[in-house]
Amino acid sequence: MDFSDIRNIVILTGAGISAESGVATFRGPDGLWEGHRVEDVATPEGFARDPALVQRFYDARRARLHEVEPNAAHAALARLDKEWKGGLLIVTQNVDDLHERAGASRLLHMHGELKSAWCRACDARSPWQGELANGPDCPTCGVAGKLRPDIVWFGEMPYEMERIDRALMEADLFVSIGTSGAVYPAAGYVQTARYCGARTLEMNLDPRQGSIFFHETRIGKAGELVPAWVEEVLAANP
Ligand code: OAD
Repeated sequence: MDFSDIRNIVILTGAGISAESGVATFRGPDGLWEGHRVEDVATPEGFARDPALVQRFYDARRARLHEVEPNAAHAALARLDKEWKGGLLIVTQNVDDLHERAGASRLLHMHGELKSAWCRACDARSPWQGELANGPDCPTCGVAGKLRPDIVWFGEMPYEMERIDRALMEADLFVSIGTSGAVYPAAGYVQTARYCGARTLEMNLDPRQGSIFFHETRIGKAGELVPAWVEEVLAANP
């Protein structure tokens, strides 16, 4: 694919970009997410049924963030963010903080963030490092036991959809990295971008059914493919 004459880039990332950092992807070979059914830990209904289980699940994942580091793919996207003079939006489905720790800033978390807590009493969102299972006070309103993980569960509305749609409509290049394309609306972004005139590139460990929507698919590890692609796109647009 020719990467010259590109101005606006939208990049969608999924769990595959963090896999080489040691963060588990969502859909394991057994169909479970770290031993749990997705309905139990990633739906409002699951939370209503067993809030303690859900809080402990996300507390454990939040605590584990301190044990993982960004990998070469996160670093390459941070380099692109720094050096790219045109428009760029990195839309991540990931709730980890590895993109920002690598230094990316033109970034949004469409499925929320582990390091944020959402108060069901006052609706405020607060940066959060510790546990939620022990029912802490909301830093904004002071009410105890009302904070939940600021994660978009199935059946809830992803964040910043209008901003994402605008960026997709203006994109000259849409790049998808390490996502299975199983979850909408993110899975449909390639079609929106392509319909609006963008070239489309996918990088993933395995070919998927959705690969047919892309102009080009590169198969391999994100930690190898992404740095090579960033080099290529920067060289084509000096
Ligand atoms: P998935 O676990 O569904 O898919 C991860 C993809 O990454 C798979 O296609 C793998 O083949 C690929 N992969 C694995 N290791 C890789 C590597 N080293 N390099 C490149 N690719 C690799 O994760 P997502 O597509 O991100 O939603 O899942 C989408 C959403 O489903 C998540 O955001 C989450 C989940 O339910 C919410 O939490 C709302």
